[in-house]
Amino acid sequence: MPYATTTRPWATAPSGPGRWGGGGLGARRHPEGDGHVSADPELSGRLALVTGAGRGIGKAVVTALVERDARVLATDLDPEGVEALAEKYGDQVAARPLDVTDAAAVEALVAETERTLGALDIAVNVAGILRGSPVVDLTDADWAATFAVNTSGVFHVSRSAARRMTERGRGTIVTVASNAAGIPRAGLSAYAASKAAAVMFTKCLGLEVASRGVRCNTVSPGSTLTDMQRALWTVSDDEDPAAAVRRVVEGDLATHRTGIPLGRMADPSDVAEAVAFLVSDRARHITMHDLYVDGGATLRA
Ligand SMILES: NC(=O)c1ccc[n+]([C@@H]2O[C@H](COP(=O)([O-])OP(=O)(O)OC[C@H]3O[C@@H](n4cnc5c(N)ncnc54)[C@H](O)[C@@H]3O)[C@@H](O)[C@H]2O)c1
Repeated sequence: MPYATTTRPWATAPSGPGRWGGGGLGARRHPEGDGHVSADPELSGRLALVTGAGRGIGKAVVTALVERDARVLATDLDPEGVEALAEKYGDQVAARPLDVTDAAAVEALVAETERTLGALDIAVNVAGILRGSPVVDLTDADWAATFAVNTSGVFHVSRSAARRMTERGRGTIVTVASNAAGIPRAGLSAYAASKAAAVMFTKCLGLEVASRGVRCNTVSPGSTLTDMQRALWTVSDDEDPAAAVRRVVEGDLATHRTGIPLGRMADPSDVAEAVAFLVSDRARHITMHDLYVDGGATLRA
């Protein structure tokens, strides 16, 4: 049981003053209420839940939030990556296992978080899976698994967070979707459909909770250098990965991909910066927005 050895036992999370303690939350100023924008560091003391935080974009989101002095509950199906983040960032990050497909587990963790660490200010849905296949070969299992994580997972986490945020009249939720939600991609039907559903779900939630001070937005990345992206490449072991990146950047008209106009593949931090902006008070008048971070790949300029 890898989590039995967590470096930050949940039950013993400090409750006194300090970064994990009570000093930060009450002292924060929310511009939605008084028109004052927080000074740098802009997310000081705020508590964020991030799913899929163990690697790739989720890990970059944790880093971006920590850099802005937020406290982060880093969760993932796979314990290794989030444990490493808790090690690295000391009392600013706690690691917990979470399978976002398990609605009861999500609700229990959010309840426990609020009980032991305080009110959730921010929830970021990053957990996602990609099962590529032409539709005619797509299995029922792959279709179901894709929607269970990419769509139902977003629903579970957002619902648990929104229940509490609306009661307090403040909070913000960001869902990391995909630019595949907005443009047809061969071999990615389940993935693209699941992400399109997650985008529309997040917008509908944003509409429902707007009058209660809660903002909900999506960030839609294009090709981003992570394990998920690498798994998409059909490179043999001895082929230069740079060649695979070049193919993505240049595009492939045979598969109706126009390439990336900005001429580079995204780094996970490019996506994390967009998330960090949307959860900050600088975005206080932005909700139900879908922010594309794809270097222009879907020609949305
Ligand atoms: N990398 C890209 O090119 C790209 C492009 C567009 C969108 N995205 C989206 O960004 C998000 C992050 O992608 P990434 O590239 O970092 O992927 P990744 O595969 O590197 O990381 C995904 C993380 O989600 C976790 N996860 C998977 N199933 C889970 C579950 N049931 N519960 C909790 N955690 C689970 C994994 O353990 C992993 O740590 C995903 O939602 C993905 O669809 C990625």
